[in-house]
Amino acid sequence: MNNIDWGALPFGYQKTDYNVRCYYRDGKWGELEITSDEYIPIHMAASCLHYGQEAFEGLKAFRGKDNKVRLFRWQENAKRMANSAEGVMMAEVPESLFGEAVKKVIQLNEKFVPPHGTGAALYLRPLLIGSGAQVGVKPANEYMFMVFATPVGPYFKQGFKPVNFQVVRDFDRAAPLGTGHIKVGGNYAASLRASERAHDEGYANVLFLDAKEKKFIDEAGPANFFGIKDGVYVTPDSNSILPSITNMSLRVIAEDLGLKVERRHVSVDELGSFEEAGACGTAAVISPIGKIVDRDTGKEYVFSKDGNPGEWTTKLYERLQGIQYGDVEDTHGWLEIVE
Ligand code: PLP
Ligand code: COI
Repeated sequence: MNNIDWGALPFGYQKTDYNVRCYYRDGKWGELEITSDEYIPIHMAASCLHYGQEAFEGLKAFRGKDNKVRLFRWQENAKRMANSAEGVMMAEVPESLFGEAVKKVIQLNEKFVPPHGTGAALYLRPLLIGSGAQVGVKPANEYMFMVFATPVGPYFKQGFKPVNFQVVRDFDRAAPLGTGHIKVGGNYAASLRASERAHDEGYANVLFLDAKEKKFIDEAGPANFFGIKDGVYVTPDSNSILPSITNMSLRVIAEDLGLKVERRHVSVDELGSFEEAGACGTAAVISPIGKIVDRDTGKEYVFSKDGNPGEWTTKLYERLQGIQYGDVEDTHGWLEIVE
């Protein structure tokens, strides 16, 4: 069939058969178009190219033992994309259009949904761009919304194994009153130098601090941070952090498993008190953190001494993945079966 080695898939782009797209013109969204073309024709003065008027999403569909395909919490991604659109003054994609597009892409590319048990999933990438020509700095009057799919394996090649992070103070990902809370491309551009340097220095990624005081933990690369101590799941709250749907789900699961949950400012100094730590997001699900090194002071915070994930981190990961793959009952109504 596809000749895909599902178990060895990286987190990367792989061509599938179809994608869908739709245009916002004259104040309204048009019909969803299906295409096999991987390219989009774009005006050279489109506002997304010059002024960064764009937002994206990332969500996954999982194949269960019963062979059914389950889409995880897509309504939350639709809401977040609407917030992103509002934040950079783009036309909002209605939830119904977002849902229709995502489900259509899954149906059209059903053969690319990895088999159950391979640890892989179908990643969906919705994208909203200002497509109208604009030379003055102002919002475009035309937008394009599209969704493509690609089968993916684990985000970090280590899989569910502890990775190391580095605390940095010489780069900020987002300003306190900037765009950190929405999923716009500029945040990722701003993170590239820090994360590439971290890779070169042997780390999976960086732990960004709050841009104003450099006191509190912000994001763990392209993921949210959490720490666990004394039966409490602690995760930072800040206006410059993207509200992760994985983190939102883990907070519920943490309570289901008997942990308390705290969402609040978390100072760097508190790192030393956590028994376990991790980074969470759709791509990685959970990346256990083995060690965090402060790049300025050299101080090390070690969470895994034996190279294995901690007990709570493992329980959280297994429960969330169990729900996503349909092996554990979905008591919170997070999945939609896509026929
Ligand atoms: N933080 C950032 C900066 C991200 O890019 C992502 C990924 O979407 C996350 C956190 C995790 O969010 P989610 O769990 O919704 O994928
Ligand atoms: C995530 O899903 O956690 C991500 O950050 C996706 C990334 C490729 C942007």
